[in-house]
Amino acid sequence: MPGPSNIEEPAHLFAPLQLRDVRLRNRIGVSPMCQYSSVDGFSNDWHLVHLGSRAVGGAALVLTEATAVLAEGRISPEDLGLWKDEQIEMLARIFRFIEAQGAVPGMQLAHAGRKASTAAPWKTGEHVVAEREGGWRPIFAPSPLPFSPDDIVPEALDHPGIKRVVEAFADATRRALEAGAKVIEIHSAHGYLLHSFLSPLSNQRTDEYGGSFENRTRALREVVAAMRAVWPERFPLFVRISATDWVEGGWDLDQSVALAQQLKNLGVDLIDCSSGGAVPGAKIPAGPGYQVPFAERIRQEAGIATVAVGMITTAEQADQIIRTGQADLVFLAREFLRDPYFALHSAARLKAEIQIAPQYQRAFPQPDPKK
Ligand SMILES: Cc1cc2nc3c(=O)[nH]c(=O)nc-3n(C[C@H](O)[C@H](O)[C@H](O)COP(=O)(O)O)c2cc1C
Repeated sequence: MPGPSNIEEPAHLFAPLQLRDVRLRNRIGVSPMCQYSSVDGFSNDWHLVHLGSRAVGGAALVLTEATAVLAEGRISPEDLGLWKDEQIEMLARIFRFIEAQGAVPGMQLAHAGRKASTAAPWKTGEHVVAEREGGWRPIFAPSPLPFSPDDIVPEALDHPGIKRVVEAFADATRRALEAGAKVIEIHSAHGYLLHSFLSPLSNQRTDEYGGSFENRTRALREVVAAMRAVWPERFPLFVRISATDWVEGGWDLDQSVALAQQLKNLGVDLIDCSSGGAVPGAKIPAGPGYQVPFAERIRQEAGIATVAVGMITTAEQADQIIRTGQADLVFLAREFLRDPYFALHSAARLKAEIQIAPQYQRAFPQPDPKK
């Protein structure tokens, strides 16, 4: 199976990457970013322009924001969703546009767990969305522990409830395939449902889904297995994790390495290495590239491709991460909001060749190969 070493030339930011049958034209991906711009989970013109312009901007992989597999698994009422077939059509249009620009369309599939029914960040008023304001109850988690004292007390998922979530991830995967996605990323980070099963801080169950490492990872492994059964062999499956909770007694990097090994055996191709979000108040030493060492260690020790993400903002920084084998891909979020053409600008800085939409070629002259 293609792995981190399956590259055609010495790795650098503009070297292509083959993952199963999917070829990424370079190592730059658009990190999933909630847009809080949907009505009833539907994508619309905003998503077309937001995602489409980053494909025009030269990114190799354009991932949607966290897309809810169940309506109750949305973070906010305005989240993107894929819990019904009607939501496929507009996504298919967006993905066709992304592909026409030479980028690969992908989706992040998610369930918000105990962070569901909260307000989009720019909304004024209460953080928790009341039912009369479009919020919903109950919300679900491994254990009946609210994220913070002001948040909703979630209902602990029973076994049929866990089965329903696993099936919802598989159903959404089938819809993503129909829409034309070529990469799926499971969101198991930032304190949302699947991460909250992994972390002993939020999972205090005493059944086979809580307690030991084997038990806390069970829900995620079941989701992966169910998705792999419907997601074609030819397409890669990614998992985003919080490599550490940054809290003593929480999920940590050693467990992340062990998890990555297990996931690899279940057909996961790449681990996207983020961190934090399990509990409020964690002290996170954020700074340029602060999560890169997680991607590096998981790549080395679990022998699986990784994404480095978090405060990667320059061409040189991104190129160095790839050249030194710390990760196979870099994902950028906020820098892509500042500069949708980050990849085109980076190619110019690093004097690399890149495909430019003919409509824009006059603004991005390419180096003359004869000089
Ligand atoms: C506006 C915004 C929305 C985000 N939404 C998501 C999301 O839907 N799923 C996710 O896994 N991370 C999300 N994140 C986190 C980013 O994907 C990324 O991991 C984080 O911002 C660090 O990268 P950066 O320093 O390049 O912004 C979001 C970040 C931003 C800024």
